[in-house]
Amino acid sequence: MILDCDPGHDDALALLLAVGDPRVRLLGVTTVAGNQTLDKTTRNALKVLALAGVGGELPVAAGCDRPLVGQLVVAEDIHGASGLDGPELELPVGPVATVHAVELMRRLITGSPEPVTLVATGPLTNVALLLRCHPEVLPRVRRVVFMGGSTERGNTTPYGEFNVVTDPEAADIVLRSGLPTTMIGLNVTHRALATTEIIGEFRSMGTRLGAICADLMTFFAGTYRREFGFEHPPVHDPIAVAAVINPAVVETFAAPVSVELGGTHTRGATVVDLHGRTGRAPNADVAVSLDVQAFWRLLMTAVRALGAASTQPARR
Ligand code: RIB
Ligand code: CA
Repeated sequence: MILDCDPGHDDALALLLAVGDPRVRLLGVTTVAGNQTLDKTTRNALKVLALAGVGGELPVAAGCDRPLVGQLVVAEDIHGASGLDGPELELPVGPVATVHAVELMRRLITGSPEPVTLVATGPLTNVALLLRCHPEVLPRVRRVVFMGGSTERGNTTPYGEFNVVTDPEAADIVLRSGLPTTMIGLNVTHRALATTEIIGEFRSMGTRLGAICADLMTFFAGTYRREFGFEHPPVHDPIAVAAVINPAVVETFAAPVSVELGGTHTRGATVVDLHGRTGRAPNADVAVSLDVQAFWRLLMTAVRALGAASTQPARR
């Protein structure tokens, strides 16, 4: 697996699940501008990997600092000025690769003895550029699994979800690629809520990592409550990783998905044809339901294991 992300509180949990579940062979991490600017999302990815106890152990490369077309609009209202506000996270981090994320992806895919699953939890800018700049890697990509879009309404515009709205052209390129693709949209991620009980379970792990996850989710809960009126925050991104580890975590439906590129009011909307009205061939397996308990079991098990392995007891 290669995880392309824009940490981001929920991206942080996706990283921890990818590192902490033994069934995942995480080849590398790439970062993209989205929730925050590229320098911040990259620094945050390094911090999370260091917290997971694997700092410097796998390659991390920074990618695109803006969408293919248009300007970057970060989600500072949700993730804060650092992109990972909440706990104090000053700690030594590993290095960033000197190559661009697209080049790291190309090298990792080309060098892998088996096809690679690309998981994207931010705007799809890096993934789209990989597919356009290096079409020769397509046969070695097992599947693209992305958190983005929605079969229903959006979160950034009435019908646009943040990752796709940030870079609609990139999402369009990925969905037209012909690669096996899984879309994990808001229609299922809004069911994975970091409730008080979940935050309490992080805290009760008795590890520094568990405490930091609790603090991250507490901050995330505050911004989601203020900006969206949610009682608890939805952790969108780790579901994309969970769906790779155990595909039964989500139920999917093969459907044609189009990205609105020109709509005055709907640019960035994912138009999911669930009832065959367009006559178009399906181009994505669209998540339509989530096994919430199974998802949380996967994530909590991974975080608990990482926290214990890091042998750093919680700061009292
Ligand atoms: O719309 C939610 C998505 O946008 C998540 O990936 C979140 O981290 C932001 O990137
Ligand atoms: Ca994200």
